[in-house]
Amino acid sequence: MKRAGLVVTLLALAGCTRSTSRDPLTMVPATDLDPDPSVVEVELVAEIGAVEYLAGKPAEVWGYRDASRGLLTVPGPYIEANVGDLVIVRVRNELPETTTVHWHGIRLPQPMDGTNASQTPIMPGETFEYRFVAGDEGTFWYHPHMRADVQIENGLYGALVVKEADPPEAHAERMFVLDDVKLDGDGTLVDAPNTLDYMLGRQGNVILANGAAGATLATRAGRERWRFVNAANGRFFNLDLPGHTFWVIGWDGGRIPVPYEAATLLIAPGERYDVLVDLASDTTLRTLHYDRGHDIPDPGPLTVFDVELSGSSPAIGAKPLAGPPLAPIVTDGSTATRVFTLTEIEDRGDGLPQFLINGEFWPFNTPIGALYGDTEIWEVRNETEMDHPFHLHGMFFQVEGAPLAGWKDTVLVPRQTTVRFAVRYTARGMWMYHCHILEHAELGMMGSLVVTAPGNPL
Ligand code: C2O
Ligand code: CU
Repeated sequence: MKRAGLVVTLLALAGCTRSTSRDPLTMVPATDLDPDPSVVEVELVAEIGAVEYLAGKPAEVWGYRDASRGLLTVPGPYIEANVGDLVIVRVRNELPETTTVHWHGIRLPQPMDGTNASQTPIMPGETFEYRFVAGDEGTFWYHPHMRADVQIENGLYGALVVKEADPPEAHAERMFVLDDVKLDGDGTLVDAPNTLDYMLGRQGNVILANGAAGATLATRAGRERWRFVNAANGRFFNLDLPGHTFWVIGWDGGRIPVPYEAATLLIAPGERYDVLVDLASDTTLRTLHYDRGHDIPDPGPLTVFDVELSGSSPAIGAKPLAGPPLAPIVTDGSTATRVFTLTEIEDRGDGLPQFLINGEFWPFNTPIGALYGDTEIWEVRNETEMDHPFHLHGMFFQVEGAPLAGWKDTVLVPRQTTVRFAVRYTARGMWMYHCHILEHAELGMMGSLVVTAPGNPL
């Protein structure tokens, strides 16, 4: 009863604040409560509220609110730090169920990882304080790690960017969190996933960039740095920008040593890309069909947002041809290989599919053990009929075949193929690895890794 009343009030509020419209593609920045320039201190409230994905049609969502501001936003407050900053985020749970906040990609002490293996879930009404040093520059994001398929779909996610000391020249820098939502005609979220949603990972019918559908980026011609994260449950974004190309300078784990030009950017759920674009004419950022298995139909190109240019920008230097150097993880014939075989069962008995790693499904998996400081190769064999983005918590890895291309924490493993990557165990504790199609993870495609040091168990 109380919950229903609250929602009605928030819907009314959301209706009137929309008219003071801010640029829909600019995220609300998190309020930094600590004046010390090397400390970023943020207070978030996870709660129920409303946003208008479709104009004039408020939808009940779950989201993060900056505790010192009025309303929640989807995505949640945008958090920015410099390399080396101490980041403190207090999360108050005002949701009707438990939650956690996972800092996807950030290397941090295991008790701060925000999974139910690393902490006691935050009970409704309670607060948990996350605290870590942002040691790596890069594009990261935060989201719950409990009932993630539901909580993230409902709107609980946000971006965290850790800026490098020496960024490439650009006329503007922007962060875009990509998502899709499945909406009814009245603009509300469809909250009953069907069997196909569980099988493929939920795909929505409305594409969002920073929570906005069909928005327009009004800017000047010139060079911009765009960062992307794919926060969708199941949709793969395959971006193009007609008349333009992307100059890829970074991905999951920060800048890459050898930037490259790309006509399209395939971003699987959980992955990030960091690109430069030289905007020269009006265009549209679109997502093209990508065949990820199970014959998902091709809807043709879908608009992410339009780009409208006016004026021009001052001249700017050449695009960087090299990024910061990166030390390859050295492996040889004696490096141990661990095999992870991904399989699926179409009906586990109740009509829902089951997704497995090495024949086991989370939470009934046997944790695997590794020694702190060791290097191993992970060989992920996808024996299923669809692609799975494989994510490891706690440490980055280097994908075989492209060892100098940079650090990843989420890698696409196309169906019926094998991907190998090298991992150095640089963090103690229990870490999750899983498919980042959220329905797949929740339906079993998740496991746990325990990294121990002799004489110093955790
Ligand atoms: Cu982005 Cu284990 O998650
Ligand atoms: Cu999957």
